[in-house]
Amino acid sequence: MSSSSVPIHGNYHGYYAKRPSVNDPRLELLPPSTFAGKRVLDVGCNEGWVSCEIAQSHGASRVVGVDIDDALVRGAWRRRRTVWSAQGPPPDTHDSEPETETAGPSRKRKRTEDAPVPRSAVGEPDYFPASCAHSLGPLPIPHSAPELFPHNVSFRTADWVNEPIPEDEGGYDVVLAFSITKWIHLNGGDSALTTFFARVSSVLQPGGQFVVEPQAWDTYRKAKRMDKRLRETAQGLVLRPDDFPRMLADVGFGEPLRLGSVGEGGFHRPVDLYTKI
Ligand SMILES: C[S@@+](CC[C@H](N)C(=O)[O-])C[C@H]1O[C@@H](n2cnc3c(N)ncnc32)[C@H](O)[C@@H]1O
Repeated sequence: MSSSSVPIHGNYHGYYAKRPSVNDPRLELLPPSTFAGKRVLDVGCNEGWVSCEIAQSHGASRVVGVDIDDALVRGAWRRRRTVWSAQGPPPDTHDSEPETETAGPSRKRKRTEDAPVPRSAVGEPDYFPASCAHSLGPLPIPHSAPELFPHNVSFRTADWVNEPIPEDEGGYDVVLAFSITKWIHLNGGDSALTTFFARVSSVLQPGGQFVVEPQAWDTYRKAKRMDKRLRETAQGLVLRPDDFPRMLADVGFGEPLRLGSVGEGGFHRPVDLYTKI
């Protein structure tokens, strides 16, 4: 799909200018081992900020971000390069202070021993200032192990509800659906949401985890105003976000773990963790 001028899929451009996504507080709610060594699918990755953070700082072996909007996916590839350029050297190649003095406790907890240093880490030097990126472009990416950032993150354009992507074949350990259920629901109706949850279940093995940040029903009202077709679809909706636990139980998930709610203003939403039985 090409970029739509009305963001009917929630395909907002400049989304991360509005929502803090370096050290994303939603990720901080998750148990520390959630992504370590895991294959992760980020559905509705937008410009890839969350995908890159998981790949760089949470020890994932592989992160695939998928988004319906090709322009956003191109932005995600650029983001990967930007994050790579800004990354500090691994701790053993620079004489940094001990990590306890340079990073907050939760970040330290999640970073693997030899993980490189993201520029976002509190108190870290700016290894590649924006002015350098503007005048020189991003740094080249050297060959390295496929499980190391940035080789461990890639992006695809697809309507993931209806189009499988090649990476699905190998399955995932964790599927992430942050702030996307409303858009799937409003565009495709109840059946799209049912299909989406069944697809998530189909790419996870028992023990696999589904992390979802559902938008509340009362926020659908504003989105419906965007577009006539969304309004028409909305009229036929029977399912509500409160039905998600039952719907997910129907496709093989256990009771959700309610991890809490974070986010400012209209972004204050719960994050729920489901495990496939
Ligand atoms: C509101 S944004 C949330 C971005 C990101 N998940 C986050 O919370 O930081 C929703 C994203 O989902 C994408 N999206 C909506 N429907 C989709 C679909 N069927 N398949 C893939 N991506 C989709 C949109 O293009 C948009 O980038």
